[in-house]
Amino acid sequence: MKSTWIALSLLVFLLQPTNAQTKDSKKLKFPKGFLWGAASAAYQVEGGTKADGRGPNIWDKYLNPPYSLAKMATGEDVNGDIAINEYDRNQFLKDARLMKELGINTYRLSISWSRILPEGTGKVNEAGIDYYNFVINTLIKNDIKPLVTLYHFEMPLALENKGGWMNRESVKWFTDYANLCFDRFGDRVKIFLTFNEPSIEMFFLQSVFDAINSRQMPSVPASEKYISEHFAHIHHLMLAHAEAVNLYHKKNLGGKIGITFNFMLCDLDTTASDAGKTSLDLVKMAWNNLFMDPVFKGSYPAVLFDRLKAVQYGDIQAGDMDIIKSAKTDFLGINYYGVNMYHEKPGAGFFGLVNGKNPDKPEMFNGFVNPEAFTRGLVSLKEQYNNPEIIITENGAGYGVSDEKLENGKVNDALRTAYIQRHIEAVHNAIQAGVNIKGYYVWSMFDNLEWIMGFSRRFGITYVDFKTQERYPKQSYYWYQSFLKEQ
Ligand code: NOJ
Repeated sequence: MKSTWIALSLLVFLLQPTNAQTKDSKKLKFPKGFLWGAASAAYQVEGGTKADGRGPNIWDKYLNPPYSLAKMATGEDVNGDIAINEYDRNQFLKDARLMKELGINTYRLSISWSRILPEGTGKVNEAGIDYYNFVINTLIKNDIKPLVTLYHFEMPLALENKGGWMNRESVKWFTDYANLCFDRFGDRVKIFLTFNEPSIEMFFLQSVFDAINSRQMPSVPASEKYISEHFAHIHHLMLAHAEAVNLYHKKNLGGKIGITFNFMLCDLDTTASDAGKTSLDLVKMAWNNLFMDPVFKGSYPAVLFDRLKAVQYGDIQAGDMDIIKSAKTDFLGINYYGVNMYHEKPGAGFFGLVNGKNPDKPEMFNGFVNPEAFTRGLVSLKEQYNNPEIIITENGAGYGVSDEKLENGKVNDALRTAYIQRHIEAVHNAIQAGVNIKGYYVWSMFDNLEWIMGFSRRFGITYVDFKTQERYPKQSYYWYQSFLKEQ
């Protein structure tokens, strides 16, 4: 009798789902018409930096001598002159075939501003327009909807030399460029994003460039002082976004326009003091609300402004906030990777917080992996911003060499595969909780050039041999493919 009872309990125990088991995500049903995609950005994939009249942008400057930023960061002296060679139309045709075979119904690309306007303003480079027409038409022929980001970290050098985003003229430069893109591509592109990750551009990239230009070693990127002194950068970008949204709507092209943010979930690596908790709230506000609030509430977060005294530096002129309020952004784009861990260090870093320890082993490149926090974060966005339409415009992972071994043409990237699967489940959970999510894009379709980190960080679901330009779909590609077949 006793042994029967033990056997039964064991059976019940074995049949119970444990935390280690995930749901069968292939069976998860998403809303009809859901966008399933993969994402990329121009400089990271195109190459052809000197081809057909393209003008230089900031990356052509900073990844080449005398700056050679990738060499500084990784030891490898690389730039985007070839990247993964997608400016070569034959290569793009092959890549589009891989997308089609994957089963995605949409692809996110960005336009290189200086490819179509070499000086950033003025004369149009028709060869650049032709290239994007080719890309857009190829995708459409393959039943893949293009989602186009207008600005993915690529300021034309001619405009950077005039002060870039710190110059108020940047609002007009960008609106004119957006106008050109709407006129030339808007008949076929039905989803636009104005900007990609303004907070990363501002706190990370721009602060590194500023340090290099003043011959200092880049230090802690974001600080209260930095935000206060560069607030005009954010404000011009927000104005430019609003002007572009209004312009797009006026043209009645029948599509949608949004903006995408790096959704920065933050935590402390130790038990926090009360001061630490307050700092964490301020840091979250600086990464997220400072950028999302103007777009979705029409105002900058007052609590943060009080602390930063930013207004006095910020170039907010009469009528600006009315323009920002008038723009009705159609959707909120979210890029999410992991949680940013902070450590309390009073008097240092960002409101007394510096980078903390990521508890994961092995560590993912972009933070502590936590899909449950992602679901909670998405629910909080629904609450904070009145249930906006959301598209997950990037989600993906890179763990380094252990996950990237190319053996007999195969890459068994088990860590990335599990990551993507868990985050698709997290998105599903958020939808179940009432969040209005319309799409999901994996970052990235291919390994590519990870900005300052050069080719040292692979995020692709397709392996790229950077020397031969051969492509090898990884296990994560095949997992996503079989998942998409069930949708
Ligand atoms: C976000 C950026 O938009 C993209 O350009 C970058 O490569 C990925 N994160 C991975 O870090």
